[in-house]
Amino acid sequence: MSDVQYLRGLLEEHPDFPKKGIVFLDIFPILRNPVAFETLITHFVHHLTSYTIPKSSSKKVDAIVGLDARGFLLGPIIALRLGAAFVPVRKKGKLPGQCVSATYEKEYGEDVFEMQAEGIKPGQTVVVVDDLMATGGSAKAAGELVAKQGGKTLEYLFIIELTFLKGAQKLDAPVYSIIQSD
Ligand code: ADE
Repeated sequence: MSDVQYLRGLLEEHPDFPKKGIVFLDIFPILRNPVAFETLITHFVHHLTSYTIPKSSSKKVDAIVGLDARGFLLGPIIALRLGAAFVPVRKKGKLPGQCVSATYEKEYGEDVFEMQAEGIKPGQTVVVVDDLMATGGSAKAAGELVAKQGGKTLEYLFIIELTFLKGAQKLDAPVYSIIQSD
């Protein structure tokens, strides 16, 4: 069985959570199982160390940017394995010091994401990580924060991509997802 089949088989679907009409895909069964969690992280790290974006370059990833909140469960581990920095993106008002901010659309209204201004230096290469991409609004805002600081987003990385929402079209770099749900 491939990594993808194995990990997909562990996802749990919760119809009508957190509200009617949404089928919530729960990643925590993967994290509860150390073999599966290791498979997940190793899959991401192999992907990031084997790739070259563009194919001709041998670009190193300087920083992993993890999104509030489940991106915080994956990003630091991937960053440590790569020898890269981990930089959190949080909801407005949670990070101390000077921050840059970007607004994004949620299902109802808007929210604001922030990153510490120290987080990314001009010219640094970044991979943005979260557990799931739905509309792509939060990933887009994270990409804007990276760009505001002169960083370059190489790729957006997710366990799951809800492909029917076409979030990838909003983003300024390629998307890599292990599981696509349509
Ligand atoms: N975030 C947005 N949509 C989701 C879904 N269907 N399952 C889990 N997390 C989500």
